[in-house]
Amino acid sequence: MNIVCIGGGPAGLYFGLLMKARWPDHQITVVERNLPYDTFGWGVVFSDATMDNMRQWDRTTADQIQEAFNHWDDIELLFKGRTIRSGGHGFVGIGRKKLLNILQVRCEELGVILKFDCDVNSDFDFPDADLIIASDGINSKIRTQYEDVFKPDIATRPNRYIWLGTHRQYDAFTFDFKKTVHGWFQAHIYKFDDDTATFIAECPESVWLAHGLDKASQEQSIAFCEQLFADNLQGAKLMTNSRHLRGSAWLKFQRVVCEQWWLKNKHGSHVVLMGDAVHTAHFAIGSGTKLALEDAIELTRQFEIHGCEPAHIPNVLTDYQESRRIETLKIQNAAWNAMEWFEVCGERYCDQLEPEQFMYSMLTRSQRISHENLRLRDKKWLDGYEHWFAQRFMSEASTAVTTTPPMFTPYTLRSITLKNRVVVSPMAQYCAHDGIPTDYHLVHLGARAMGGAGMVFAEMTCVSADARITPGCPGLWNDVQTLAWKKIVDWAHLHSEARMAVQLGHAGAKGSTRRAWDGIDQPLAADDTEPNWPLISASPQQYIDGVSQTSRAMNETDMARVTADFVQATLRAAEAGFDWLELHCAHGYLLSSFISPLTNQRTDAYGGILENRLRYPLAVFKAVRAAWPQHLPMSVRISAHDWVEGGITPADAVLIAKAFKTAGADVIDCSSGQVSKREKPVFGRMFQTPFSDRIRQEVGIATIAVGAISEADHVNSIIAAGRADLCAVARPHLANPAWTLTEAARIGYQAMPWPKAYISGKRQLETNFERAAVQAAIATLTSK
Ligand SMILES: Cc1cc2nc3c(=O)[nH]c(=O)nc-3n(C[C@H](O)[C@H](O)[C@H](O)COP(=O)(O)OP(=O)(O)OC[C@H]3O[C@@H](n4cnc5c(N)ncnc54)[C@H](O)[C@@H]3O)c2cc1C
Ligand SMILES: Cc1cc2nc3c(=O)[nH]c(=O)nc-3n(C[C@H](O)[C@H](O)[C@H](O)COP(=O)(O)O)c2cc1C
Repeated sequence: MNIVCIGGGPAGLYFGLLMKARWPDHQITVVERNLPYDTFGWGVVFSDATMDNMRQWDRTTADQIQEAFNHWDDIELLFKGRTIRSGGHGFVGIGRKKLLNILQVRCEELGVILKFDCDVNSDFDFPDADLIIASDGINSKIRTQYEDVFKPDIATRPNRYIWLGTHRQYDAFTFDFKKTVHGWFQAHIYKFDDDTATFIAECPESVWLAHGLDKASQEQSIAFCEQLFADNLQGAKLMTNSRHLRGSAWLKFQRVVCEQWWLKNKHGSHVVLMGDAVHTAHFAIGSGTKLALEDAIELTRQFEIHGCEPAHIPNVLTDYQESRRIETLKIQNAAWNAMEWFEVCGERYCDQLEPEQFMYSMLTRSQRISHENLRLRDKKWLDGYEHWFAQRFMSEASTAVTTTPPMFTPYTLRSITLKNRVVVSPMAQYCAHDGIPTDYHLVHLGARAMGGAGMVFAEMTCVSADARITPGCPGLWNDVQTLAWKKIVDWAHLHSEARMAVQLGHAGAKGSTRRAWDGIDQPLAADDTEPNWPLISASPQQYIDGVSQTSRAMNETDMARVTADFVQATLRAAEAGFDWLELHCAHGYLLSSFISPLTNQRTDAYGGILENRLRYPLAVFKAVRAAWPQHLPMSVRISAHDWVEGGITPADAVLIAKAFKTAGADVIDCSSGQVSKREKPVFGRMFQTPFSDRIRQEVGIATIAVGAISEADHVNSIIAAGRADLCAVARPHLANPAWTLTEAARIGYQAMPWPKAYISGKRQLETNFERAAVQAAIATLTSK
C-alpha cells in the first residue's frame, strides 16, 4: 500500500512508524511543511496511562520517551499569597521538539520517508496514494477542503492565552493566579526538561483588551507577563518560540469536533482525519497529544484486525471512526469542563473562594476527578482539607475527634440545623385522596426520615383542588389535610432527626392529568376518579400539542385568588409543623409558566422582559415569605435551563436567583427542564450541578444541587468544592429509603448516627462493605 501522512506532528509520525514497523513492505511517507526541529511550542504532558499504552505498541519509542521525559506528581497552587500543594497526580512532561525528534528518528530507522519543507495544497497532490492521513493539525487544510463531508463544528473560546517558556526551575505542575486592576490572569506552568518549563498565561478577552494587549507586540506581551508574574519568575525570563506567528501571540482556543472522519476522494484514495485535525482538547486537561497518539494506535489496530490491504480500508476506517469518536468525545467533555473553569474562574471563584476551597475546586474542575479519587492521589492532603471544611461547620471539639466527610457536616439556616447535606428530593407519589395524605405517606416519608438524610421533602403539595397535577396529589387547603400532614411530620420528628420540608405548588397548565403509571401528562380519562378540571397558566397553552387541555390565561382576579391560596397553604404548613418551605417555580407549573418566555406570551405587566415575567412569582413569594415564620428557611425551586432555543438559559437563571434573593429567599434549588416538550436536555452524572455552582458563586446565595447525584462520592465532591450547600437525591431514594445510611457505611463513615432500633444492622452493613472492598482489591491485584 502507498500511505501518505500530510503533517508531521505526533499523529502523522507515530502512525507512520507504527504501520512501517508492522508492514515494512508498504510505502509510507510523512510530508511536513516545516523543517526538521522547527516547531511551535514548548512541552506537552500526558499521563502514565498513555505511556503504558505506547509501550505496548512500540517499545523503542516508549523507552526513548521514558528516558527523556520529566515525571512529577505534585500540583501547586499560588493564590492570594498562599502556596498549597497536593500530590499523586502522575504526569509526564516532554519537550514537543524532543518528542518529535524521537518519532522522526524512529521513522527513519524503520524506513518511513520523511519529506520536510513541503507545504501540501490538497490531497490531489498524491493521486497514487491508497490512504491519505490528514494529520495536518488544528487548522487542517484537508478538513476545510471537504468540510461539507466532515462537517466540523468549531467553537472559538473567549479566553486569550500565550504559550511561553522559561528556564526557572519548577518541581510541580504550578498554577499561579494574579489579580490586576482589570481582572484575573492565570499561569499554567510545567517543567518538561532539565532546565525548561512551559509557561502559559491566560485571561478573559475583556481583561486582555482592558490591558491593551491587543495592541502589544510579542516583546511587549512578554514584558507584561514578566512583570505580572515577577515574584514567581524570581528574575527568570519568559521566552517565545513562535516568532513565525503573524499578529498577536495571544491565541484563542478552538474546540474542533467532526461528524465524519473519512471519505474517498476523486482519485479513489481514502482520506482520513487524525489528531488535532479531527478533534482538539483544551490544554487545561493536557490531552491533545495523547488523543493524537491514541488515534494512530487505533487506526493501526484496525489494520491488524481487518488486514492491511487496500480492499479492507473502508471497514478499517469505519471501525476506527466508531471507536475513536466516543472515546474522544469523553475526553473533550472533560476538557470542556476544565476549560470553562479557567474561563470563568476570575469572576466566579477567585474572589469568592478561600484558597483551600479554590484548590479543591480547581483539582476537580473537569468533574472526572472525584473526592475519593483525590483521596487515592493524596490522602494526607484530602484529610487536611476535610478537616478544614468540617471546622467551618462544626465545633473544635467534634472535628478534633474524627474526620467528617463534607457530606456529613451539619448545615444551619435561620433556626434550622440539618445534620448533614443530603436532602430527599420532592417526589410526587399520586397516593393521596381528596388531597389528603394517607398512611401511604406516613410509611413512605417516615421510612426516608429514618434513612439518614438531613431533610426530607414531601412531594409537591398543592394549594387548592384545581392546583393538583393529578387526583392523587396531596394538598394543604383544608383542616383535614393539615391534620394529616401534622401526624406525618410529628412522627418523623419523634422517630428521626430529619427535618421535614414542604414544597408548595400549583400545577397550572400541567394539571388535571392521570397518575404517572396510568399515563404521565395525559388528561384525565373516563375511567379516572374525577373529571377534568379547567386549567389556568400565564398564557393559553397545551403542554402536549394536540393532547393536553388548553389552559386559560390568568387575570388579576385569578392571581389574587391563587396568591391567597398560597398564603393559606403556608399558614397550614406552619401549623402542620414543617421546618422548611419551598416554593415550586420550576418544571412548567403555574409559577414557572410566568418565568419562561416559552410559556408566557402576555402583553401586560406580567409578560415581556424577564423583570415582568418574574413579577407574579415574586409577588407570591413575598406573600408566602410574610406568612411563613421568620425563624424558618425558604427555598425556591427553579428550572435553571429550559433546554430549548429561546427559553431560559443558565445566564437567565442567575438573574432569576438574584431576584428571589432580593425578595428574601434563603436557598435556590437548581433543577431544570420540563417546561417544554421540545426540550433537549444533556443528561449525565450531576448534570444540573453546574447551574447550582454558577448561581451560588455569582449570586452569593445558598443552593441545592439536584439531578443524577447518586453516590456519596458525588455529594462529597459537590459540597467540598462549594458547588452547592445541599444535595437533593430523588430516584436513589425510591430504591433505598436508607440511602444516606447505606452510603455512609459504603465510604466507611462510622460516626453516622442510626435509628436506635436499627443499630444492629449498622455494623453488619459496614463489615459487608469492608469485605467487598478487600475482595475488589484482591481481584484487581490478581488481574494485573
Ligand atoms: C498552548 C498549548 C498547550 C498544549 N499543551 C499540551 C499538553 O500539555 N499536552 C498535550 O498532550 N497536548 C498539548 N497541546 C496540544 C498538542 O499540541 C496537540 O494536540 C498535538 O500536537 C496534536 O498533534 P497533531 O499531530 O494532530 O497535530 P500538530 O502537532 O499540530 O501537527 C500538525 C503538523 O502538520 C503540519 N502541517 C499543517 N499543515 C500542513 C500542510 N499543509 N502541509 C504540510 N504540513 C502541514 C504542521 O506544521 C504540524 O507539524 C497543547 C496545545 C496548545 C496550543
Ligand atoms: C417519581 C418522581 C416524582 C417527582 N416529583 C417531583 C415533585 O413533586 N416536585 C419536584 O420539584 N420535583 C419532582 N421530581 C423531580 C425530583 O425531585 C428530582 O429533581 C429529579 O428526579 C432529579 O433527581 P434524581 O436524578 O436524583 O432523580 C420527581 C421525580 C421523580 C422521579
